[in-house]
Amino acid sequence: MSETVAGRKIMEQLLECNQQHLLAFYDELNYGKKSQLIEQINDLDFSAIPGWIKNHVKAYKVLPIPERLDPAPYYPARPTADLKHKYHEAVRCGRQLIADGKVAGFVVAGGQGTRLGFDGPKGDYPITPIRNKTLFRLFAESILATGAKYGACPPWYIMTSPLNHAATVEIFKANDYYGLDRSKVFFFQQGTNPNFSFDGKILMADKGVISTSPDGHGGSLKALYKSGAIDDMKKRGIEYISYWQVDNPLIHVFDPLFIGLHAMDGAEMSSKALIKAHPTEKVGNFCLVDGRVTVIEYSDLSDEQAHRRNADGSLVFELGSIAIHIISRTFVEKLNVEGFALPIHRAVKKIPHIDQAGRQVKPEKPNGIKLETFVFDALPLAERSIILETLREEEFAPIKNATGDDSPEVTRRMMIERAANWLEAAGVKVPRKADGSPDCVLEIAPAFALNREDVAARACDIPVIKPGDRLYLE
Ligand code: UTP
Repeated sequence: MSETVAGRKIMEQLLECNQQHLLAFYDELNYGKKSQLIEQINDLDFSAIPGWIKNHVKAYKVLPIPERLDPAPYYPARPTADLKHKYHEAVRCGRQLIADGKVAGFVVAGGQGTRLGFDGPKGDYPITPIRNKTLFRLFAESILATGAKYGACPPWYIMTSPLNHAATVEIFKANDYYGLDRSKVFFFQQGTNPNFSFDGKILMADKGVISTSPDGHGGSLKALYKSGAIDDMKKRGIEYISYWQVDNPLIHVFDPLFIGLHAMDGAEMSSKALIKAHPTEKVGNFCLVDGRVTVIEYSDLSDEQAHRRNADGSLVFELGSIAIHIISRTFVEKLNVEGFALPIHRAVKKIPHIDQAGRQVKPEKPNGIKLETFVFDALPLAERSIILETLREEEFAPIKNATGDDSPEVTRRMMIERAANWLEAAGVKVPRKADGSPDCVLEIAPAFALNREDVAARACDIPVIKPGDRLYLE
C-alpha cells in the first residue's frame, strides 16, 4: 500500500488526521474491496476532518448566537386588506410560472428515517386513509394533477442517499413511475460524511468499509449542483425549485401564492412558516440577524426570548420553520460557483461498527457522532428571502415516529380532518362526533382536488356523507 506514490499520499493524510486505523484490515481484503476502500478514503474531506473532530466530535462547539435577534417579517396566511391585491397578483404570477414550465418539484428523501423504523425508503410508507397510497405515490399524483390543471407537468427531482438510492429507484420502476413521464423524473444522491467515535476516530462499518451517514438535507444544495440536476433544470427552463420533505403528505407541492410572492419579491430562497403552538415548541425560529432571515434552533433561544410577547399578547418570536421552501435555481448556482459552507450540526447516535479486532458491534446506547448540515442554514446567504405563514392543519403533518407525536396515526387523522375542512368550506355536510372530529373516513385524491378551491369547484360531484361512511373522491 505505502509503496506507490498514491499509497504514500493516503498514508500521510491518514497519519496527519490520526485515522490510520482505516487501513488496519487492508491486507486481508480482496482486490475489489481494497479499491473500494481506497476510493472511500479518497472521497474524505481531509482538510475538514481535523476541524470537525476538534469542534464537533471531541467538543461541542456551540455556534455563537447573534447578540441581536429581531423577529422576521412575514406574509400572513390570510391577507390583510392592504395585501389582498398583492396576493391576487401573486397567485396569478405563480399559476403562470407553473403553466410556463418554470417550476420544478424537489423532494429530499435521503434521510435514514431511524425514528420511524420502517424497513425501506420512507417515501414508500403507505399513508393515505383509505387507499393506503404511499408518500411517493401521493406526491406523484399531485404532480400529475398539477400538470392536468396547468397544462404543463413539472419535472420532479428526488434526492436519495447512497443508503437508499437503489431501493428508491427500484420502487419507482416497480410502480411504473406512478404514471409520470420517466424522462421528467431525475434521481440523484446526496453526499455522506464519516461517522466518528467520541474520541475522534472514524468508525468502520466493516473491514473494508468506512461507516458513513448522509450529510443532512443541507447537502442537497451541493448535490443539486454536483449531480447535474441544476444543469438539467437550466436546459428545461426551470427557474424556481419547490422544495419539500418526503415525510409530509399534507404538502401543497406547487403553491401558486408562495411561488408568486417569491418571484414578485425577487427572493432567492423563501420559506413557509407556522405560528408556534407554544413558546418552546421544538421547531427552528425564524429571526432576522443583520437584516437576513435566519433560523435559530429552539435550543438556542433563551427562555426570555422564547417567552417574550408583543403588546397584543402574541409571541415576538412566533414563527416556526417547517422545511417548505422555494429556491431560485440561480441561487443554488451562485452558492456553488462562489463556494459556500453551511454550519455543521452534530447528532449523537447509535452507530453499528467493527471494533479493533474486526468484530461487529451493535451498540445499545449512543456511541458516536454523525455530522450534518441543514438546508435552512442557507437562508442568511440569500440576498432576499420571504416568509409565508401557513396553517398547521392545512400543510404540516410530518411522519417522524412510529407512535405518539408525529406518527402515521396522527398524520392520517390530520389528512381526514383537512379533507373534512375542505368539504365543509365547499358547503358539504360532514358528520362529526361529539368531540368535533369527523365521524367518517375521507380521502381526496389529488386528481379530484389539490386544494380547497378545487373542492369548491366540484362540490356538486360530492355525494351525501353519512356517519361511519368511507368516502374516496377521485
Ligand atoms: P429528518 O431530519 O426528519 O431525518 O429528515 P430522517 O432521516 O427522515 O429521520 P430520522 O431523524 O432518522 O428519524 C427530514 C427530511 O430531510 C430528509 C429526509 O429524507 C426527510 O425528508 N433528509 C434528511 C435527507 O434527504 N438527507 C439527510 O441526510 C437527512
